[in-house]
Amino acid sequence: MPKPRSRRPAPEVSVLRVGHRPGRDPRLTTHLALAARALGARRLYLHPPDEAIRARLAKVVDDWGGTFDVIPTGDWRAVVRSHRGPVVHLTMYGLPLNPILPRLRRSARVLVVVGGAKVPPPLYALASHNVAVGNQPHSEVAALAVALVGLHGVPGPGRFRNARRRIVPTAHGKRMRAPRTAGR
Ligand SMILES: C[S@@+](CC[C@H](N)C(=O)[O-])C[C@H]1O[C@@H](n2cnc3c(N)ncnc32)[C@H](O)[C@@H]1O
Repeated sequence: MPKPRSRRPAPEVSVLRVGHRPGRDPRLTTHLALAARALGARRLYLHPPDEAIRARLAKVVDDWGGTFDVIPTGDWRAVVRSHRGPVVHLTMYGLPLNPILPRLRRSARVLVVVGGAKVPPPLYALASHNVAVGNQPHSEVAALAVALVGLHGVPGPGRFRNARRRIVPTAHGKRMRAPRTAGR
């Protein structure tokens, strides 16, 4: 995978998760949202809405900092149509990711769309790019992670502002920075 260029600001990435099944997919969709946040996405549109996942991620942001929103939506088409920038649908049937990355990195805003058990067929026509992370079936979490690292690189430590919890990277064991105390 080619390296991200360093001087240009990284694109603002939004993720749209289509076809979440409330009650059946909570763990997978939570992992998708956690990976999106940790690897630099700004927000996740969640179709259909699931308040439990929105609340779970709000708590993660409260503890671990940064800015990340889960935005419930009942209309995934409206999210795609109103996006100003490339819409990248990740699908094992698509064209390879690597050749398109340099162009995506030059965009101000990228919407990355991932499906669930079944992807609505109109999505293939509405997306600006149908893109594969290898043409083998795997997972939306894996595909999203590879795409975000391709767009932003692997994040370094200390990028998340207003964190109450922060890890001190260490070669062995676990170290956390002491939590902020009120008034200090
Ligand atoms: C379990 S797969 C669903 C596969 C489904 N049969 C379909 O219609 O594509 C869930 C999601 O993972 C992502 N995904 C899985 N394999 C992928 C690959 N090789 N490249 C890109 N995305 C992939 C896609 O976003 C897909 O919608």
